[in-house]
Amino acid sequence: MVMTAERTETLASEIRKLAGDKNALILAHNYQRAEVQAVADHTGDSLELARIAADNAAEIIVFCGVHFMAESAAILSPEKKVLIPDPTAGCPMADMATEDDLIAMRERYPDAMVVTYINSSAAVKALSDVCCTSANAVRIVQRVDARRVIFVPDRNLGRWVQRFTDKEIIQWKGFCPTHERFSAEDLAEAKRAHPDALVMVHPECNPEVIDMADEVFSTGQMVKFVRETDRTKIIVGTEEGMIHKLRSVAPGLEYILPSKALICPNMKKTTLEKVYASLVSEEHRVTVGADLREKSLGCLRRMLELSG
Ligand code: 13P
Ligand code: SF4
Repeated sequence: MVMTAERTETLASEIRKLAGDKNALILAHNYQRAEVQAVADHTGDSLELARIAADNAAEIIVFCGVHFMAESAAILSPEKKVLIPDPTAGCPMADMATEDDLIAMRERYPDAMVVTYINSSAAVKALSDVCCTSANAVRIVQRVDARRVIFVPDRNLGRWVQRFTDKEIIQWKGFCPTHERFSAEDLAEAKRAHPDALVMVHPECNPEVIDMADEVFSTGQMVKFVRETDRTKIIVGTEEGMIHKLRSVAPGLEYILPSKALICPNMKKTTLEKVYASLVSEEHRVTVGADLREKSLGCLRRMLELSG
């Protein structure tokens, strides 16, 4: 059902009032729908949102994103009630790493340290040495005390990191289906149509796409870049929600989405109605058992320490 502008506005103000009454903080990832981003207290990339989740005075966090993000917030802030408006919003890439496979990989490479992308389950984090996000992956791999690193689960991010280090990176086979659908041909066509545009892409893109880009950024780094650049036209090689975010911080620039396939269906599951329902009923709570929380917390904390 398409919502009228009036209904969107009413719902947004009811959400803001409820959030205030309940001392709830609404966090939204940069890929969320425009109206969900607009109602949030903070929008950001995975690292920025994890930092905010770890350090704020709210009693409730409503996490508008995908499950691993809400789960990370629950690990970092166990005293808070962490809610996800749609409990089926998962990340297929996170599901590409299982505990059993990681145990087997550790046995195969006993001297390696495991650096795990935050797009992973708590159980996989619990078996890892340190977490990373796309904003700090290069720095984390450079800083870990090992010559050999098992990088889990994104092979594209892992291959991007490999360009900046002599360490041996053992790549997992995971990938983001949304970024994987975005091809070098798509980008070539966009570049042909807009030869004057700068190209920035996310490191979850495949290496052929990355080779054609001017800049490779996490979503938070894209925001910083458009605030500061003197370029006026940008091809944005990542999920389409990003365009809304960029327009809100630097409205004078022209943004081009180079592929219609750049939509993450899971990120789009969160609607304003679901955010409202979540605040009213205080569902769906994301919890992590005490034992698992203790084991996975170290991995996230080390990331926050190492990324400075
Ligand atoms: P960022 O941390 O760059 O926002 O990326 C998160 C993500 O899921 C990208 O697909
Ligand atoms: Fe996962 Fe890709 Fe969606 Fe990010 S865009 S949440 S990596 S499926």
